[in-house]
Amino acid sequence: MKNLNKAIIPVAGLGTRLFPATKAIPKELLPILDKPLIEYIVEEISLSGVKEVIFVTRSGKESIKNHFARDLKLENNLKKLGKKNIIEAFHNPLFKNIKFKYINQEKPLGLGHAISCAQHLVKDEDFFLVILPDEYIVSERKENDITSMVKSNLKDKLGRILVEKIPKKRSKNYGIIDFCKDKKSPNKFINLIQEKPNPSESKSNYRVVGRYILPIEIMNFLSNERPSANGEIELTSSINKLLLKSPRTIIAQTSESKIFDCGSKEGFLGANIFTAMQDKILKKQMNKLISPGGGIGRHKGLKIPR
Ligand code: G1P
Repeated sequence: MKNLNKAIIPVAGLGTRLFPATKAIPKELLPILDKPLIEYIVEEISLSGVKEVIFVTRSGKESIKNHFARDLKLENNLKKLGKKNIIEAFHNPLFKNIKFKYINQEKPLGLGHAISCAQHLVKDEDFFLVILPDEYIVSERKENDITSMVKSNLKDKLGRILVEKIPKKRSKNYGIIDFCKDKKSPNKFINLIQEKPNPSESKSNYRVVGRYILPIEIMNFLSNERPSANGEIELTSSINKLLLKSPRTIIAQTSESKIFDCGSKEGFLGANIFTAMQDKILKKQMNKLISPGGGIGRHKGLKIPR
């Protein structure tokens, strides 16, 4: 058995929830403070020891590749201007040993299809990671969720999906876990996943977070998957078929982190405010700036109309 070493990140989506901001700028490049969201995602992967990142992208989103590529002309210009220190921001030490690969998803056929586009790049693996970059995960512990998922997979060679407890009324937005009924086992095995059920029909209040460790067999199911009613090849449907054939092979691992869905206005704004509040100086400045009557310079003391 091989170590888990590759992560697929689907980035071909349209980002419609954040239009018009994401019309010309990929949602993955929107910043959380001064760094694009996708950098945090790759940092999260790098911390787990996984060394290869495969972006499944599309034409029109070349700027993601440009972001991770070196721009020697820009670096030379900055050097000439005596701004050498800025160049450091382009060389994230966590990316030093990461191999970046890019492939195109030619048709907008959904998440399951995007993953199957990378089949030829992971075919020799036993397991691979799937990371949905909308979800910005801030670990409150030393070891982030993916790292503990990867470590556990190394020991027991089982698939894993990160889950989070949510109020049932939010089930319409997520995959919801139906657990195997087995009180004796310490593992929370997944029986099946319901894709975006109505709250009245949802089997639990645990939702799928966009972090998966999947066995390579999933590719066979994805290649034979038919589009669902919305015309998309659903990952959830193939996971369910795999679990029907091989029950108790995927564990639900509960997240211990703070999670922001940056594909939504609420999550994107929340991620920015939360990250700013972790920085002592910014926190002080923000409190000053946005408190009633706050501000700097000309607007200081301005009364905000209510
Ligand atoms: C996808 C999955 C869903 C999961 C969600 C997590 O949905 O289909 O099961 O809960 O990601 O982000 P999407 O957000 O792409 O509609």
